Amino acid sequence: MNNRMRWYCNPLLLAGVLGLGAYGGRLCFPEEPVQKAQKGLHPYEAYEASERCALCHKQISLQYQQSAMAKAQVLPWDQAEYFQLAVPHTKIEAKVAPVEAGCINCHAPQAFLAGDIPPPKAGAADPKADGVSCDMCHSIIGFEGDVPVNGNFAVKPGKVKFGSRKDAKAVGHETQYSSFFKGSKLCGTCHDETSPYGAWVKETYREWSRTPYAAANVYCLSCHVPPAPGKAAVTGIERTDVAQHIFQGAYSQAMLNGAATLYIYPLSKEIRAGKPFDISVVITNSRAGHRIPTGSTEERQLWLRLEVRDANGKIHHIPAGIAPGDTPENSYSVTVNKPAYRDLGTMMGIKDFKGIARDSLPEGDRLFRKVFLNPNGEETIAQWYTVNSEAFDNRLKPLEAVTEQYVWNVPGDIAKGNATITATLNYRRLPQSVADLVNIGKVPILHVAADQAVVEVK
Ligand code: HEC
Ligand code: HEC
Ligand code: HEC
Ligand code: HEC
Ligand code: HEC
Repeated sequence: MNNRMRWYCNPLLLAGVLGLGAYGGRLCFPEEPVQKAQKGLHPYEAYEASERCALCHKQISLQYQQSAMAKAQVLPWDQAEYFQLAVPHTKIEAKVAPVEAGCINCHAPQAFLAGDIPPPKAGAADPKADGVSCDMCHSIIGFEGDVPVNGNFAVKPGKVKFGSRKDAKAVGHETQYSSFFKGSKLCGTCHDETSPYGAWVKETYREWSRTPYAAANVYCLSCHVPPAPGKAAVTGIERTDVAQHIFQGAYSQAMLNGAATLYIYPLSKEIRAGKPFDISVVITNSRAGHRIPTGSTEERQLWLRLEVRDANGKIHHIPAGIAPGDTPENSYSVTVNKPAYRDLGTMMGIKDFKGIARDSLPEGDRLFRKVFLNPNGEETIAQWYTVNSEAFDNRLKPLEAVTEQYVWNVPGDIAKGNATITATLNYRRLPQSVADLVNIGKVPILHVAADQAVVEVK
């Protein structure tokens, strides 16, 4: 544990001394070390229920209730991955045992703080164990160590709610300004993660910190908690920039739609039957302040499909080639349905488990992803069992374009006349094969972008 002493130097006093040379008081003094929130530190009762906050912070509460973060422990896939996969795995594999509490540190921090590990299943729990609550987040005072990661936030629950305003005048509680509520590090404490094997398995904060957005002080909040005129509380004053607690991401068609843009251009105006034909697609991550996909990259799917509709209405699929850094055996960069994720069988106690379809999508499309490998070198959906997360990464970087080159071997019998080439970029949170294995129903496919070009078949 890193409890190095930090020193705080009073800038006003320091300026006074340097300018006037006449101050005899103490300039620098040791700061109380910030300590990571510990398992069993506070009972559930140390935090107020989010419904209480809703009495006065009506809009903010209605917004926040819709977000996955408010229900981070009780959504179907969260329940399934924790109870059906991770917890049983901790009983088999000693190395991963710490994740039984580790998952809860971020997903239901109040259950973690209460030492309620594993927390009761959805529906039975104290609602404070459902996810990240209002009071929990507004009790965070900093983090322990040098970088925000692995739920290393420190908390101070009580009457004082921390926030980013110096002039807030609350009723029923106190407020205190904290610069921590303006930047991105607060988010980084839970949005960056390493596995028990030391592999980076979530790095949204690290990704963001190297972008032009970070350089321009465009924080996570700028996009996920944007300012709008209104009141922060029903009895509060009118403000121009009230923080809208939207916190949408992987579940939201509105967030995904247009997050990246497409531009398709054929390299010649004419297609000739029986001849190869070159097409390029330029893809730009134009709206996300991190890579797309980010976060739970082991299971997020982003894929580009190219199709041609010929003059007779017949659809021809244009397959993607293997991307640089990939091989046909791995096929990390192209959709396939070969059996994968064999480690799920061990976790679920299924004998002779052969694996499930890796992508459960039509084959041959370009995939943008980061590959996670387990100790056996196999692709895994279990981030906690990840030894190597650097095997392949072609995700879209913010404000950067990538060009995908396609060569289409045009069939000899294609219809003459106008043909329309369509490029479509889609997103899904989780391969359907995984959802089916753990019985959580249909995972929707969200539209990101599309573009078309018309060419003439001669
Ligand atoms: C009885 C009404 C009431 C209740 C209940 C209430 N608040 Fe407030 N709160 C206010 C008012 C009024 C303000 C000031 C708004 C302003 O200045 O625009 C405020 C401000 C805040 C701020 C802003 C601090 C800042 O620096 O910007 C935070 C954070 C906050 N409340 C959190 C909470 C949380 C968390 C709860 C539930 C545990 C809660 N409040 C319950 C009335 C309430
Ligand atoms: C105490 C831990 C914690 C902190 C602090 C935290 N998050 Fe989260 N956040 C989570 C967890 C856990 C999830 C995953 C929800 C789930 O399981 O579906 C999440 C999900 C999200 C999502 C995605 C929701 C979706 O629908 O896909 C967004 C966006 C998000 N957080 C933004 C933020 C921002 C911005 C901050 C900083 C202001 C922040 N988070 C701080 C734990 C945290
Ligand atoms: C410039 C705007 C912008 C900034 C800055 C930004 N995001 Fe996002 N975020 C988006 C958009 C757009 C999406 C939807 C596309 C996607 O999933 O990547 C998104 C998606 C997400 C998701 C869901 C991703 C997934 O696929 O599961 C999470 C979690 C998230 N953001 C957290 C953060 C955190 C934490 C920060 C700061 C470190 C941050 N975002 C900064 C725009 C932004
Ligand atoms: C993941 C952490 C997180 C959660 C959960 C969260 N907030 Fe906030 N909240 C923030 C941050 C960060 C800010 C400051 C935003 C800014 O300055 O742009 C903020 C700002 C506020 C403000 C001041 C708004 C303003 O602009 O004056 C209030 C009030 C507030 N939150 C109440 C709540 C309530 C009520 C809930 C639950 C329904 C909640 N928060 C959930 C992180 C969080
Ligand atoms: C360091 C904090 C942290 C830890 C530890 C952590 N998670 Fe998460 N988890 C998150 C965040 C943040 C997200 C949201 C990322 C995104 O939306 O892409 C997330 C996303 C998820 C999702 C995807 C939710 C969805 O609806 O798509 C599942 C499932 C999940 N986590 C389960 C677990 C399990 C099981 C463990 C323990 C083995 C665990 N998490 C450990 C922070 C954490």
